[in-house]
Amino acid sequence: MQHLSHPHLLSVKDLNRLDLDLILRRAKDFSENFSPKTPVELLHGRVMATLFAEPSTRTRLSFERAMLALDGQVLSITGADSSLTKGETLEDTGRVLSQFADVIVARHPEHGSIQRIAQGATVPVINAGDGIGEHPSQAIQDLYTIKAHHSNLEGLVVGIVGDLKHGRTVHSLTQVLAQYRVSFVFISHPSLQMPRSLIAELEAQKIAVQETDDLRQAAASLDALYVTRVQRERFSDIETYEDLKLAYQVDINLIKLLKPSCSILHPLPRVGEIDPAIDGDKRALYFEQVRNGIFVRMALLALLCGDNL
Ligand code: NCD
Repeated sequence: MQHLSHPHLLSVKDLNRLDLDLILRRAKDFSENFSPKTPVELLHGRVMATLFAEPSTRTRLSFERAMLALDGQVLSITGADSSLTKGETLEDTGRVLSQFADVIVARHPEHGSIQRIAQGATVPVINAGDGIGEHPSQAIQDLYTIKAHHSNLEGLVVGIVGDLKHGRTVHSLTQVLAQYRVSFVFISHPSLQMPRSLIAELEAQKIAVQETDDLRQAAASLDALYVTRVQRERFSDIETYEDLKLAYQVDINLIKLLKPSCSILHPLPRVGEIDPAIDGDKRALYFEQVRNGIFVRMALLALLCGDNL
């Protein structure tokens, strides 16, 4: 029987290299044996509760799909329908959801909120996005997709472009990829740079980091390009958002500058920063990335609340 080293998945800091390798192996097994009509009966009789207090399509549905594929069952509520709106604390919400479910998956706009749910919970809790904080399951799905295309990650040059300040997926992804010794080129408008604390953590691990605002100039050096949207909901001033939202666009002209083997990723949703005209390019992996989310989440659910592995 194999377990992750922490009972919850709140931050990628909960995962060491052995945990990550185990999740990737399990996800690959699930992907090879996936049959939509025949669930793997690993979580038969188990229940997952999802609580989403921010919009979600992919994350919520892929967790739900993953639970169904393991023969488990799903209870879902949105933040707006929940007693959070009456002033119930996040800790009490965690305690209450634990009475109904064997695992909780939650998203909330406040940084640190899912940790508070976990403090009240008596079952495993998965952070599906806490404001501008983290999005660990997305990072593992991104890692899985990059590894599937570039089998050896060590030494890869990974470019990350867009809203690096508010983008929780990249806050988690950089820390996960650092465990595989990649180097980074962070491409953003100066006002949307990666938080200094994250850069300092990478440098402390002797991970090479470059920062630039010039995507065209950086393009040829990259082995992978991870594109993110400017996070409109994190701006108090909509004019600033409007000025910055399309600072970078990945289109036919841009991809001519990328290596023939350079993978192009995006956590989605895209809102103009990737031109659909490039979707047919074999380097564009973002829809495959969505599908991989099912297998990675099957692995996470099985490892966190299963006992049959
Ligand atoms: C991301 C998120 O919610 O952080 N979406 C997702 O989960 N796939 C990225 C985003 O919203 O920009």
